[in-house]
Amino acid sequence: TGVGKSVPHDSAAMQVAGEAQYIDDRLEFPNQLHLYARLSERAHARITKLDVGPCYQFDGVTIAITAKDVPGELDIGPVLAGDPLLADGKVEYVGQPILAVAAKDLETARKAAMAAIVEYEDLPPVLSVEEALEKELFVTESHKQQRGDSAAGLKNAKHVIEGSLHIGGQEHFYLETQVSSVVPTEDGGMMVFTSSQNPTEVQKLVASVLDVPMHKVVIDMRRMGGGFGGKETQAAGPACMAAVVARLTGRPTKMRLPRVEDMMMTGKRHPFFNQYRIGFDDNGRIEASEIIVAGNCGYSPDLSSSIVDRAMFHSDNAYYLGEATVIGHRCKTNTASNTAYRGFGGPQGMMTIEHVMDEIASYLGKDPLEIRKINFYGKDSRNVTHYHQPVEHNIIHELVADLELSSEYASRREAIKAFNAQSPILKKGIAITPVKFGISFTATFLNQAGALVHIYTDGSIHLNHGGTEMGQGLNIKVAQIVAEEFQVDIDRIQITATNTDKVPNTSPTAASSGTDLNGKAAQNAAQTIKQRLIDWAAGHFQVSPEEVVFKNNFVRVRNQILSFQEFVQLAYFNQISLSSTGFYRTPKIYYDHATGSGCPFYYFAYGAACAEVVVDTLTGEYKILRADILHDVGDSLNPAIDIGQVEGAFIQGVGWLTTEELVWNDTGKLMTNGPAGYKIPAVADMPIDFRTTLVENRKNPEDTVFHSKAVGEPPFMLGISVWCALKDAVASVSDYRKYPHMDSPATPERVLWAVEQMQTLV
Ligand code: MTE
Ligand code: MOS
Repeated sequence: TGVGKSVPHDSAAMQVAGEAQYIDDRLEFPNQLHLYARLSERAHARITKLDVGPCYQFDGVTIAITAKDVPGELDIGPVLAGDPLLADGKVEYVGQPILAVAAKDLETARKAAMAAIVEYEDLPPVLSVEEALEKELFVTESHKQQRGDSAAGLKNAKHVIEGSLHIGGQEHFYLETQVSSVVPTEDGGMMVFTSSQNPTEVQKLVASVLDVPMHKVVIDMRRMGGGFGGKETQAAGPACMAAVVARLTGRPTKMRLPRVEDMMMTGKRHPFFNQYRIGFDDNGRIEASEIIVAGNCGYSPDLSSSIVDRAMFHSDNAYYLGEATVIGHRCKTNTASNTAYRGFGGPQGMMTIEHVMDEIASYLGKDPLEIRKINFYGKDSRNVTHYHQPVEHNIIHELVADLELSSEYASRREAIKAFNAQSPILKKGIAITPVKFGISFTATFLNQAGALVHIYTDGSIHLNHGGTEMGQGLNIKVAQIVAEEFQVDIDRIQITATNTDKVPNTSPTAASSGTDLNGKAAQNAAQTIKQRLIDWAAGHFQVSPEEVVFKNNFVRVRNQILSFQEFVQLAYFNQISLSSTGFYRTPKIYYDHATGSGCPFYYFAYGAACAEVVVDTLTGEYKILRADILHDVGDSLNPAIDIGQVEGAFIQGVGWLTTEELVWNDTGKLMTNGPAGYKIPAVADMPIDFRTTLVENRKNPEDTVFHSKAVGEPPFMLGISVWCALKDAVASVSDYRKYPHMDSPATPERVLWAVEQMQTLV
């Protein structure tokens, strides 16, 4: 019961038993249609001929649709236009849906869709971020943040280094691919079951493609088999296509993307190309910085503006940049439209400055940890970010000091040097890297949430809120919060599917703020009911309000003790409402895009990781020997869930920076479009020795729900420690004369090239 306990995830037992239902597990309607989209084979082309006639040769085909069959608005761009539901006369990436066929089963739909005649006239594609930069092809305007005079700072600095870094993208690889199942309703509306982080947006876009008001469309979202940002905007496509077919045929329609199609069609984490010039003193302390981050956004804006902003906001990670200018470009290329992915651009922003830390260390011949520590934001000075937000309640110094001790960094560093000196082939490396991550949506208006709580007359509680469950444990945390407010057992609370007709106008579950926002909203609803009950009881029993106390499934009214159930039943007979909505908006935050300054984050989450790796310098293969993590979640609502998030995020971050490589061929086709070519971390990739600890006795000083901190994304960036440890191992080949330049992901090939770089130095 209540907050602070390791209550198991509410779906855990069902998930382990295979009983938890996902969209594709739902009972099908007898006349349900299955939908398959035919994807563009060209990166950039005019469609000169489009004939769906041949699709109808197949038995069991009901309808084939193209752009002109969409009854309402064709564009489903979430913020800005640019994403036609089906290609309209031209295609802009390999994988863009051109037409869709509905049939009695998926295989028939697929065969029929492939029989359609599509002819193209090729246009020149832009396939790299550098080419887009050069041609100034952007999906939205560039943005600048500035503090002080970086040009003067660089001129006056004793030492200046400059360079660039390529940072790879990442496929979400949620176990459940994009899927929606829709049922037309009698009033011309649509009931939509979808696997989406953003039910309200799916509602809005389905209404828009059908040209009906939003009140005709109801979205139901019980759980996702993973989202990781990939279902923040891009779940809408399948839902909208299915809705169009359901409208045109009057039949329930389901669209589930097969894995390859999902990987071809949907956007990924943005690859970035970042450039830097950094000035520093003899101690390695940064005096001036110029950083340019360029995100490969793909063909349309999607969420790229906010994602590149977040990369800019995190170009400092935990360090004071001195006189600083940070510029962000949103490059347009002919690939799928890249989208949210755990960290939302933040990780790509941090990579540059972490790379710089190693470069400065290498330049001055110092331990990289020393350079990192000397550059941490100060407590009294050097404590304002390059976007002018003060860094308050900064705990990175203590946190890293604690980790340095508990991981025995110093003695292991020595042991590793000794090992490397006598080991010609296998080389070990170690690194500690910090994370400071800003919590809040940077589009300030999104920082709001609603909830709905009912108590029934038997004392059972129905809980609904605007957040979505994707495995992260949001529902159990919100249930714990409500249980805490009413002081009842958690099993009294029924967690229900996210539903747009229960809680309207919700923000996506993203930016790690699911619990911060929805937890507060649910708490607000519970407190409203509770206060109502207290006020009523005070009058009814002629006691003061303080004498009405909820505790342990009972309510004590002065000397009288009633069970929670008896108490609410009595309230019901006295005509007291047992239901309430709740609402929350985050206070204080704002950001002014015109000046590139403000206070976009309510607070920062902190963490640090120490990773030790061993590299085979003949093959470039490696293994994580040990990882120690110390992570700050404020006062944890549920330590087991939080540790699960920290470890899962770390491993996902490691995958991004090591084995997960996206490869496109020279015509813009994604070649790594399935699990055989795209390697996510598996069991054997776990650190052999894995130690995760939450920072203890450190409440969030801000007024968050029970002083907890968001946990979903920040630990993702702890994976950077492994990338740095790999560079450290490789640097030993040159006897630490220099750190290698190594783009990410550090696949065994790249590690091997880095080894070769070092060998040319000796
Ligand atoms: N954990 C699991 N198991 N599955 C997911 O899809 N998504 C991550 C993170 N943790 C994800 C996850 C991302 S990208 C975000 S933004 C947060 O969860 C969203 O949920 P929260 O705000 O409730 O933490
Ligand atoms: Mo998470 S990338 O904000 O969905």
